[in-house]
Amino acid sequence: MAFIDIAKKRYSSRKYLDKPVEKELLLKVLEAGRVAPSAKNKQPWHFVVITNEETLTNIKGCYDRKWIEAAKCIIVVCGDHREAWRRADGKIHTDIDVAITIDHMTLAATDLGLSTCWVCKFDVLKCAGIMELPEGVEPIALIPIGYPADETDENRHDKLRKPLDEIVHWEKFYYKPFKKTGM
Ligand SMILES: Cc1cc2nc3c(=O)[nH]c(=O)nc-3n(C[C@H](O)[C@H](O)[C@H](O)COP(=O)(O)O)c2cc1C
Repeated sequence: MAFIDIAKKRYSSRKYLDKPVEKELLLKVLEAGRVAPSAKNKQPWHFVVITNEETLTNIKGCYDRKWIEAAKCIIVVCGDHREAWRRADGKIHTDIDVAITIDHMTLAATDLGLSTCWVCKFDVLKCAGIMELPEGVEPIALIPIGYPADETDENRHDKLRKPLDEIVHWEKFYYKPFKKTGM
């Protein structure tokens, strides 16, 4: 599939079939995450793959939404602030690097016929406690991954995303009046 088609096919899926994802496919998704770029190639990430029933239940308890119950696998993507590149002005790049690796994984999953959803609105401290994370390592997102039990309209971006002329600035930033995009 062409890259733009994979990017448009990916969507936040919140319904999954009652079917586990094969380890072979999970490894392909994780490999896509592994090769992601990061600031100064620090790779400040860890992927905790959870399929065990008991741990899954505990992790699902960190997110207050019923739909997560259908997930048979959740990748807890952790950022290691101790490892991440720190710019001279003090900005630590963990979140940027972790977002890139997650994007690689969600797109790879799409390419393999799987679906995912970013989850950041979870109880971070509870999750870190369940996973006994060391100081400096933060769970940044929960990524449920599974076989989709829902569908999306691949043309939805026409109305759900801002048009290029609203976000692209050629040569210099110029003020653009707010336009309603229907989101
Ligand atoms: C950083 C980030 C955090 C998100 N957190 C959540 C979340 O906690 N719960 C949820 O249901 N969706 C979450 N989402 C999914 C977004 O709501 C979704 O990506 C957005 O509405 C666009 O829809 P789409 O992914 O289907 O294209 C998150 C997405 C991103 C990128």
